[in-house]
Amino acid sequence: MSERDRWATRVGLVLAMAGNAVGLGNFLRFPVQAAQNGGGAFMIPYFISFLLLGIPLMWVEWTIGRYGGRYGHSSLPGMFDKMWKHPAAKYLGVLGLIMPVAVMIYYTYVESWSLGYAIFTATGKYWGNDTAASMGSFLAGYQGWGGPDNPFFSGISWAWLMFIITLSVNVYVLSKGISGGIEVVARYALPALFVLAAILVIRVLLLGAPDPAQPDFSVSTGMGFIWNPQLDQLADPGIWLAAAGQIFFTLSLGMGTIHCYASYLAESDDIALTGLATASTNEFAEVVLGGTLAIPAAVAFFGLDATQELAKDSYNLAFAVMPALFQKFPFGQLFGTLWFGLLFIAGITSSLAQGQPLLSFMQEEYGFTRKKAALVLGLIVFVLCQPVIFFVNHGWLNEMDYWAGTFGLVILATVEIILFAWIFGMKKGWDEMTRGADIRIPLIFRFIITWVTPLLLLIILGRWAILELPGKLMMTDVAEVDKPYVLGARLVMLAGFVALCLLVRHAWKKRERAESEVEA
Ligand code: TRP
Repeated sequence: MSERDRWATRVGLVLAMAGNAVGLGNFLRFPVQAAQNGGGAFMIPYFISFLLLGIPLMWVEWTIGRYGGRYGHSSLPGMFDKMWKHPAAKYLGVLGLIMPVAVMIYYTYVESWSLGYAIFTATGKYWGNDTAASMGSFLAGYQGWGGPDNPFFSGISWAWLMFIITLSVNVYVLSKGISGGIEVVARYALPALFVLAAILVIRVLLLGAPDPAQPDFSVSTGMGFIWNPQLDQLADPGIWLAAAGQIFFTLSLGMGTIHCYASYLAESDDIALTGLATASTNEFAEVVLGGTLAIPAAVAFFGLDATQELAKDSYNLAFAVMPALFQKFPFGQLFGTLWFGLLFIAGITSSLAQGQPLLSFMQEEYGFTRKKAALVLGLIVFVLCQPVIFFVNHGWLNEMDYWAGTFGLVILATVEIILFAWIFGMKKGWDEMTRGADIRIPLIFRFIITWVTPLLLLIILGRWAILELPGKLMMTDVAEVDKPYVLGARLVMLAGFVALCLLVRHAWKKRERAESEVEA
C-alpha cells in the first residue's frame, strides 16, 4: 500500500477542519433557526446541546477517525469494522458514505447559486429590482421554474453553468489530495472568509436605523429579536430538537466527514485541543458573525414583522431578501458581492469535506488513483444533481436535505456513540482519545460520553420516530403533485445505500481472499 496522505501542518489541519464545519449553515441556517425558535430562548438549548452533544461527539469522531487512519481506513465502513468485530459493523458504516455524498449533491448546487449571485451582483444584473418580491421572482427564474413570462431568465442555463463550474472546482481540488488540495485551499479560504465576514459585520452594525421615519427598523431591533430570550418557549420540545439539529449540522457531526479528515492525522497527534479549537472556531463564526449579518440587516430595512415573514426559509433570506436589501445602501453592490463571495467560500470548504469520504473509499478499497476517484465522484454528483436542479420546486432538494442533512445525522451519531462507548468500550476509547492530548479533557466528559450523550440521542430519536416519522413516511404534508418527486428522491437515496452496501461487501470479500492467499 502506498504512503498515506497526511496533513502537512497543524495550522492547515485546523483551518481545513474549521472549513469543514463553517459553511452555509453558519450564515443562513443558524439565523433562521434562531429567529423561528424563540430568538434568545433558542440560545439556551443551543449552548446546552453544544456542551452535551457537540463537544463530546466532536472528540469521539476525531478519535474514531484517527484510530481508523492507523489501519489505513478513511471512511466509516473500515473504521467501524476495526472497532467492532461483527459483520454488520461495516454496513452501519455505509451511512458515513452515502450521507456526505447525498448532502454534497444538493449542497454544491446551493453553493453554486452563491457564485451566480456574486456575479449578478458585481455586474448589476438585477439592480433596480429592490423588493423581496421582485428578487423572489428573480430567484425563481434563476432556478428555472419562473415560467415563460419570467422577466429575468428564459431557462435554466445560468444555474446549470454555475453548477458545472462549482462542481469542477470541487473535483479539481479533491484530485489534488489532502495536503496538496484541501489544505492549500483552506489556508487561503478561511482567513479570507473571516475578513469578509468581519467587513460585513461592521457594515451591518453601522447601519443603525437607516430610515429616520421608522426608528423601529433598526439593527438593534434585529439584534434584540435574535438575542432577547422569550423564556416561555423553553418548555416547547420543538425548540430543543431544532437546537440539537443545528448543532449537528453546523459542526458537520454524524456524517463521516470529521472522521475522514481526522484519519489523515498521525497516530499520536493531539485531538483534544485541536478538536476543541475547531468547534470553537465554528461557534464564533456562527453565533457572533452569522448571528449579526442577515437577520439584523433585514430588520433594519424591512422591519421586524416583514423579516419574520420573509425569513421563513434560509434560501429566501439569502437569495431574495439580502439582494433586495443591498440595493438600498451605499456601495451595496460591493457589499452584496462580498456577501455572496463569503457564502461561496464558506460553501466550498464544506463541500470538499463532503466529497472526501467516498473518494477515500474508492482509493483505499478499490485502488483507484486520486484523480480517477475524484472524476468518478464528480460524475456521480453531476448525474444525481440533475433531478435536484430540475425538480427543485417539487421538493427534491428539501427531501434530500431532510433525510441526509437533518435526521441521518442523528441516526449516525447515535450509532457511533453506542459503538464507541459501549462496544469498543469507554476504557479503550478514553485512552485512545487522550493519547497525545495537549490539554486534559475534564473527566466529567467520560461520564457524559458514556451516559448523557447516548441517552439524549436516544430520546431525540425516539421522539422523532413516534411523532414525526409516520407522517413523514406517509407524506402527509406533501402536495399531491409533488409526491412522485419526493418518492423519487427517496428511491434514489435508498438505491445509493444498497449499491454502496454491495460495494462494501465486495471489497471485503476481495480483501479476505487477498489475505488468505498471503497466508497460504
Ligand atoms: N457544517 C456545514 C455547514 O454549516 C455543512 C456541512 C459540512 C455538513 N459537512 C457536512 C453538513 C456534513 C452535514 C454533513 O454548512
